[in-house]
Amino acid sequence: MSASDSDIPAAALAREHASMPGDESKVKVLVVCLGNICRSPLAEAVLKHAAAQRGLGDRVEVDSAGTAAYHTGEEPDVRTVQVCKENKIPIDHLARAVKPRDFLEFNYILAADRQNLSNLTRMKPKGATAIVKLFGEYGDGKVIDDPYYGGMHGFQKAYEQCLSYSNGFLDAVVGETPKAHGKKAGQL
Ligand code: 4NP
Repeated sequence: MSASDSDIPAAALAREHASMPGDESKVKVLVVCLGNICRSPLAEAVLKHAAAQRGLGDRVEVDSAGTAAYHTGEEPDVRTVQVCKENKIPIDHLARAVKPRDFLEFNYILAADRQNLSNLTRMKPKGATAIVKLFGEYGDGKVIDDPYYGGMHGFQKAYEQCLSYSNGFLDAVVGETPKAHGKKAGQL
């Protein structure tokens, strides 16, 4: 959270946001984990790629952030970069912390696990407009386990979950399936 944002009262943030020109045709999504170097930059990259593959790149805007600030400014973890490379997913992100303004600027804030979901619920300013939920609710309802202290297997599993939840999100919220673009459901 930046010092300037944390100093802005929630009501003032809400008023400022209400007066900002918004692009109603876009769905803005923020994916959140703890450090914003492993799971959420992976989820951001996978969701962006899945949207682009459906021809929805212009309609879905994706960013990611962490509920903790200790990796601010860092590139994604090398294992996140590796799993993206193996799956031909472009990734380009520098870690940042969640800030109060995010709850007004994004339509959806999707948490990787329940700890981060409860942190987000606590951070939510009054007047927040974002829908805050578990990313896994767009799939099997599971959490994306923290892969930081493990090996590549955890990152591969996180990638598969991100792919499933991204497609679930696009199906549910943006309403077009890969089939509509000549591909089988679930296939990127
Ligand atoms: P992430 O993973 O929340 O998926 O980015 C972690 C990254 C760093 C740490 C923990 C989890 N850490 O303790 O530094």
